[in-house]
Amino acid sequence: MNNVVLIGFMGTGKSTVGKKIAERLGFSYIDTDEVIEKTEKKKISEIFNEYGEKYFRDLETEVIKTLQDYDHFIIATGGGMVLRDENVKMLKALGPLVLLYTNPDVIFERIKSVQNRPLIEEDKLDKIKEILKQRDPIYSKVADFKVDTSLLAIDEVVDIILKE
Ligand code: S3P
Repeated sequence: MNNVVLIGFMGTGKSTVGKKIAERLGFSYIDTDEVIEKTEKKKISEIFNEYGEKYFRDLETEVIKTLQDYDHFIIATGGGMVLRDENVKMLKALGPLVLLYTNPDVIFERIKSVQNRPLIEEDKLDKIKEILKQRDPIYSKVADFKVDTSLLAIDEVVDIILKE
């Protein structure tokens, strides 16, 4: 399938970069968090608060299942999407997994004032560091291509991905 799957932590630019790549390639764009919010008619934070993280993770897996016939899509995934092997397997069948990453301080600056991120509601910077420590090896292992977005403008990130 001719898709590109964007993975990585919150605040690494998946949605912004994803929309731009889609525009440049003439592909469609889809964001798994948006699909979940639309189908559940609730914000991600409400889903976490009302039903818990496991319920949300199950929804993520369900979304990926529905994408299996998609072609010519840029797929931006939630930061925890690749935590399940099952999801990674399905995503890899869709296209290459491109990891966007940056350091915790940059992430903090980008998302400190944004709500709707239930995993880092309090002690944001510490939480970011803690979760990244657990996830970095997973992100690195599953990624087919990695881009450090810390010092790059959006268009530079897009150019690098398109060149690859
Ligand atoms: C999560 C990241 C969020 C969203 C949810 C959980 C995570 O998506 O799926 O809050 O576990 O890292 P973004 O990476 O798009 O913010």
